[in-house]
Parts: sequence; C-alpha cells; structure tokens
Amino acid sequence: MQKYVINGGKTLKGSVRIGGAKNAAVAILPAVLLSNEPCIIENLPQISDVTSILHALTSLGATVKTINKSSVQIDPRPAKSYVVSKDIAKGMRASSYFLGALLGRNNRARVAPPGGCDFGVRPIDQHIKGFEALGAKVIIDNGMVDARAISLDGASIYLDVVSVGATINIMLAATKAKGLTIIENAAREPHIVDLANFLNSMGANIMGAGTGVIKIRGVDELHGSNYSIIPDQIEAGTYMVAAAATGGDVTIENVTPKHLESIIAKLTEIGAKVEEFDESVRVYMDSKPKKCNVKTMPHPGFPTDMQPQIAVLLSVAEGTSIVTEGVWDSRFRYVEQLTFMGADIQVDGKSAVITGVNGLKGAPVKAVDLRAGAAMIIAGLIADGTTTVEEIDHIDRGYECLTEKLTTLGADIKRTDDFDDLKVLKNA
Ligand code: EPU
Repeated sequence: MQKYVINGGKTLKGSVRIGGAKNAAVAILPAVLLSNEPCIIENLPQISDVTSILHALTSLGATVKTINKSSVQIDPRPAKSYVVSKDIAKGMRASSYFLGALLGRNNRARVAPPGGCDFGVRPIDQHIKGFEALGAKVIIDNGMVDARAISLDGASIYLDVVSVGATINIMLAATKAKGLTIIENAAREPHIVDLANFLNSMGANIMGAGTGVIKIRGVDELHGSNYSIIPDQIEAGTYMVAAAATGGDVTIENVTPKHLESIIAKLTEIGAKVEEFDESVRVYMDSKPKKCNVKTMPHPGFPTDMQPQIAVLLSVAEGTSIVTEGVWDSRFRYVEQLTFMGADIQVDGKSAVITGVNGLKGAPVKAVDLRAGAAMIIAGLIADGTTTVEEIDHIDRGYECLTEKLTTLGADIKRTDDFDDLKVLKNA
C-alpha cells in the first residue's frame, strides 16, 4: 500500500504549473463518442480518473493513441459496444457520462452505476429524468442502468437540483437529438462551458452554457476536433490554500483567474495576499490566518471540492470559523482524521465549527476521499513532525505529479510503500 510521508514545517515558495481540469476531461473524453471522426484532446491531466475513462473507451472498441503525456487521439468509429461493465465503472463517478454519450451515439446505453467519492447518497434521478424527457426508457436491470430510445427528441427539462452530472449527461444525450432541448436550472461550472465549447467545436449547436439556461439545437452529425482542456480550478485552489497555509509565496501558473474568484475572495478574507495576472495568480501570506465563515454552493459559489482544504487552513486560524456544506449531504468524514492531528472541529449536521489552534501535529492519517486526501496533505505540510497519509489512490484520481510539484516548491514529501518500511527495518 503506497502512502505519502511528509515532514511538515517547510514554507512553500516558487511556481507550480496546473494541469488540465479533471472534471472537464472526464466529460469531454466520453463526448468523443458522439463524433464521426477522430479527435485529439490536449492538456489532459495525468491522473487515474483519466486513465479509467480511456480504458472504458477502449473497452467499448474506440481506438486510443497516446500522442504525449497530456494528449491523446481517439477514433470513436470502431466503438461497437454500448456496455460499460461494473469492473470498468467502479471507483469512477464520471462513468455515468457514458450513459449520455452512448445514448446520444447509439440510442442505447448499458452502464454500471457510478462509483466515486463517498459523500452519502449520490442519486442520478435528475440524469434519468432528463433522458426520459428526451424519449428514452430507463430501467435498472441486473444492477446496470439500461437506457434505450427509438429516437431522441428535444424537450424542456427543469432540474430540481443544480446538478453538474445531470447537466452534462443531458447535454451529451441532446446534442444529436431532433429539435431543441432546453435545460433550466442548469449547473454553471467552468467544466460545463468547456464541454459545450468542445461539442460546438465538433459542429454542435449549444448556447447558454455558463448560465442557468442551456439551449441545445440538435444536429445530425459531429465531425472531428482538436481541443485543449481548461486548467483545473480545484488543483489550482489546492495549491493556493497550501501556499497560504504554509505562510509561503507561490505563483500558480496556467490557470484561468476568473474561475478562482470565490477562492481568491475567501483567501483574501483569511489574510492571504493574492495577485492576479492573465494566466497565473500569486498567493502569499505573511500573517496568521484569520477566522472566516465559508459556505459551499454551486458555481459561482465557493466550490464544495475546496471545502476540506480551506478547513485545514481555518483549523490554524485566529478565532472560530463556521464551514457549511451546501452541496453534499455528508462531506465532513475527513474531520476525524484532522482531529488526530490536533484540530478542534465540531460537526453539527451540515456545518463544522472550527476553533483555530496554534498548530497541528504530525500523525498517521488516511485520505477518506479525493479532496479530503488533498486536505490531509496540506495538514501534513503545516504540521510539526511527520505525517503519513494512507489510502492515497483517492488522491491519484485527481492530482497529477503531486510529489514532484510539492517538492519543487520546497516541501519535504515522499511517496513510499509498506515494502520500503520493511526494507528500512531489515537494514536497521
Ligand atoms: N443530485 C441529485 N440528483 C441527481 C444528481 C445530483 O439529487 O440526479 C444532488 C447530489 O446528491 C448533490 C447535488 O445534487 O447533493 C450536486 O450533485 P452533482 O450532480 O452536481 O455532482 P456530480 O456531478 O456527481 C460533480 C463533480 C464533483 C463535485 C460536484 C459538485 C465530477 C466528475 N464530479 O459531481 O467533484 O463535488 O459535481 O460540484 O464532475 C471532485 O472532483 O472531488 C468531486 C467530487
């Protein structure tokens, strides 16, 4: 079992380059199935979620050719299957995007229910409601979600909750449906806009992405495209918080500062200094963090995927902060791990009351999910002594080259496995 070993107390300094956005990549890669020609996708992050999606594409019959470490060429034409099995879908939330993409391609999809991080109940009722409105019949059969249609016809769909996944899935299914589809109460995240831009670059007709109303006029065919994915908002935000938490000075390169506004606003309230440039932001901190209340909300609100990381910063702030989770039912499972390091946090339903302490102490902890894992890494960076973070396969799903990037910034972090510990004991 691999783990991170961090000797805390180092100040992060220098610059770090952000990779492509995970949550855009995992939507754009399945979207290639809607095309009649090969596509080249660039600026892909080197993370296990991307590997899993590429594996799923290959299992469907598509040809995937690696061009370099962040670009692939995908030829969807040989993909004859419409089935994504349990083995392939497991651990991946975004496997659900194969439902919309395969339905849009073949009028038929059979996909195992999605996995991904455990935040309590993760329903897909709004995805199904959208597919049914377009004319599909959706059943759960032998543990698989099975969707089929004679034809897909444009419809008006109002989402009962703002859902990134349902918005993306309906866009995928509706791109080649007959007539006009309108999604109301749509999610507005940067990756929704990126998917719309990619589909439009293949000849789709999608308007309004990035607002609450998306209009999709169905087209008969999509052609190939060469497309570069936007930078990852959450990877950028994670390094911004790490810079502030360690009292460092870091320039985060290859970002879209507009996507970082809510994170910049909260870091500024906490006392960090943030300078914005065209494609980079500099974050530095020369004082003790100040208390701050944070509530997560759909975009453009403060992202839920930054909630655990900012909580670590607030755990060593002056005063008491309240962090409220406004998207997921249960996203405080990491708090117990943080208390092992000396944090003072009380969770009451959807809120965490964080009383700032003078410092954290190194301890063995685990990554209970992807962003919780990132939070543990930040906690390890600021703690006194050594922190080991286990169950890091969660972190691999969303952070590329973590050791290399943090080491370049001056952190003392190593990736090891238990086997290495045994070797040390043997040589002792
Ligand atoms: N919801 C429903 N019904 C549905 C769909 C969602 O009730 O049919 C509810 C959920 O239970 C939740 C809320 O709506 O309370 C929002 O869920 P959403 O569908 O927006 O989330 P998702 O599409 O499953 C994506 C990201 C998550 C991120 C959320 C919210 C991907 C692959 N995942 O999940 O990212 O937390 O949007 O922004 O895009 C991460 O990257 O660490 C991560 C978990």
